[in-house]
Parts: sequence; C-alpha cells; structure tokens
Amino acid sequence: TDTTVYDYFKRPLRDLRISVTDKCNFRCTYCMPAEIFGPDYPFLKREELLSFEELERLTHIFVASLGVKKIRITGGEPLMRPNVAELIRKINGIDGVEDIAMTTNGSLLPKYAKELKEAGLKRVSISLDSLRDEIFGQINGRGVSVQTVLDGIDAASDAGLQVKINMVVKKGMNDSDILHMARFFREKGHILRFIEFMDVGNTNKWKLDDVYPKSRIIEEISKVMPLEPISPNYSGEVASRFRYIGSEDEIGVISSVSDAFCSTCNRARLSASGMLYTCLFASKGHDIRSPIRSGLNDDELTGLLQDVWNGRKDRYSLERSTTDAERPKIEMSHIGG
Ligand code: GTP
Ligand code: 5AD
Ligand code: SF4
Ligand code: SF4
Repeated sequence: TDTTVYDYFKRPLRDLRISVTDKCNFRCTYCMPAEIFGPDYPFLKREELLSFEELERLTHIFVASLGVKKIRITGGEPLMRPNVAELIRKINGIDGVEDIAMTTNGSLLPKYAKELKEAGLKRVSISLDSLRDEIFGQINGRGVSVQTVLDGIDAASDAGLQVKINMVVKKGMNDSDILHMARFFREKGHILRFIEFMDVGNTNKWKLDDVYPKSRIIEEISKVMPLEPISPNYSGEVASRFRYIGSEDEIGVISSVSDAFCSTCNRARLSASGMLYTCLFASKGHDIRSPIRSGLNDDELTGLLQDVWNGRKDRYSLERSTTDAERPKIEMSHIGG
C-alpha cells in the first residue's frame, strides 16, 4: 500500500537527511567560521545525540509508514561520529531503503571508505572548493591540504562507492577556480556540482553580492567546453545537470539562490539532537527526541511525523526576497545542508 504523506503544497516526503554530529574537523568560512565555532563552542553532548537504536527506529518509521526512500547521512562531519558504519549497516537492513548516501569533507575516507561500503553505503558527496592549497587551506579554516581530500576521493572510488564532488562557489573566494575544477574532475571521471553560496544560518555573513550565479558558471565553462542541459535523474533532484556536448561527462549546478527548486522539495532533515526540520532555512524544528524518550509507540510517532509533514509550508528559497534576512535560522552544521 502507498504510505506517501504530502505537505500543504502536495509535495511528497521521499528523502530523509540525518545529521549524526554537529562537530567537524574543518572550519569552513561559509559554514562554521572559526571565530564563532571556537574551543568554547557548546557542541552537543553524547546523551543529547540520538542513539543509533533511536535512529534505526525512526528511519524504519519514515520508510515503512511515511514513504521515504532515500537516506543521506550528514553532519557536521558525519565521520567524526564513532562507528558510523554500524548505523549504515542498521539502515541498510531496513526494508524499502532504496539509496543510502553520505555528505562528507572526505578527510577521513582513507580510514573508513572500505567499511562504509561493506556496511551498505552506496554513494558519497565529497566537498572540495579549490585545487590550490593556499586558497583551500583558508576556506577550510584549518589549513587542510587539497591532497588530503583527493586521497579521500580516491579511497572512496577504490572502495566502490559512487562519488560526486561538491564545490561551494563564493565570489572573490574561489570563482577563479571554476574552470580548473571542471577540467580536473571531468578528467578524473567524477561528477562535479557547483553550489551557489547560500544564506544558511546566521553566522556566515552572507550577502547576495557574494553569490556567483548558475548562469555565469555555465557560461564560463561553456566558452571552453560547450555544455547542454540534460534532464533530472529523479523528480526533485537538487542539482540541474549539464553534459559536455559530444560526451557522457556531466556537471551539476545547485542554484538555491538564482533559481530556486522548492516546488519539488521532498526532503526532511533530522538534526543530531533529534529536531526535525522541514526546510534548510527553517527557524524552528520539531522535537522528536522527547516523544521518543517518553515512550511513544510506533503508531503515535508515525502520527506525530505525519502531522509535521502535512503542515509543511516551507518554500524559503522561492520566497527569499520577501523574508527578513535577520530572521533566526538553523546553522548548516546542525543539519548538514
Ligand atoms: P544527490 O542525492 O546525489 O542528488 O545529492 P544531493 O544534492 O541531494 O545532496 P548533497 O548533500 O550533496 O547536497 C549538495 C548541496 O545541495 C548541499 O550544499 C546542500 O545544502 C544543497 N541542498 C540539498 N538539498 C537542498 C534543499 O532542499 N534546499 C537547498 N536550498 N539546498 C539543498
Ligand atoms: N552555502 C552553500 N553550500 C554550503 N555548504 C555548507 N555551507 C554552505 C553555504 N552557506 C555545503 C558544503 C557541503 C554541503 C553539505 O553544503 O560545502 O558540500
Ligand atoms: Fe565541516 Fe562541511 Fe561545514 Fe566545512 S562545510 S565546516 S567540512 S560541515
Ligand atoms: Fe526545500 Fe527549503 Fe531548500 Fe526550498 S529552501 S528546496 S523548501 S529545503
């Protein structure tokens, strides 16, 4: 039977993004600026995190009773949570999960890629914003070298994981790396996705003027390697896809700012502390941890989650121009993008 739930705008719930930690070993300027996420920053304590058992139970409910088909593990940096492979194994054992992916900065993949693949992980999105050490070291705020991430990318593909590369493009930060990145990953055979710098959270000093729009990215690459648009892999895909004409090689652009994709948004986000967010730019989440820990049964939890999704009206990117930029928003490091 079809258990699909729909929101206020008739959008189904298909995709659950689970953040397993709010910690990260990087301090990317656009996500966790070091001056704010310093040594005294109050990261979540162990008992505040949903346990793997709680996550397995919730995922089962989302998949069996609410129509979710895709699971993505995020952070912070998800590989900072001890034993993530064990969680992947649990989720992989749930009937009806069609896809399990992870979004990671790649630095710990040389250590974990094999066990993640064995546990059932299918795909990874690895973030890399520049191929120049000086620039990349500044962006990641910890001086991490490009080679560290390239080693992670190789470890993932050697382990048999499907790999995509995410590059956040911010004007004046790394827009001069666009073509270099495109060439490099075309040659390596990985899909590169350019992400417009977004106004997530309240700490990254976002300005509209810092956004390098999709149109310019495509124009710039096309001058050297002509591109044509191709259709989405699945309904609600976040990236718009382009193919290098005359080949099978492709790139993607995630244009949350210049060309919003809210009308097909089928994603829910669960924070590491068990708050459910129905939009990346939400001000408020729905506490799921308290009801779980107070002993609700599966039917009661299903009803609660259904109500949250049924009441969903979020279309932040579409409405961005009409909303107040100073409105409090959840930080990227709490919901993993
Ligand atoms: P695929 O499953 O391969 O299509 O990956 P994905 O694009 O869904 O996941 P990934 O974590 O790699 O996301 C890439 C970028 O898209 C991240 O910067 C996310 O923050 C952004 N993104 C994902 N979903 C949404 C969304 O619903 N709204 C907005 N505004 N951005 C999103
Ligand atoms: N704008 C766009 N992308 C961002 N990411 C983190 N912060 C932002 C932001 N402000 C990206 C990361 C990673 C993905 C999860 O989100 O680089 O690729
Ligand atoms: Fe860490 Fe990813 Fe945020 Fe960078 S973007 S600080 S790697 S969670
Ligand atoms: Fe979905 Fe919110 Fe992103 Fe729009 S802004 S695509 S509603 S998460």
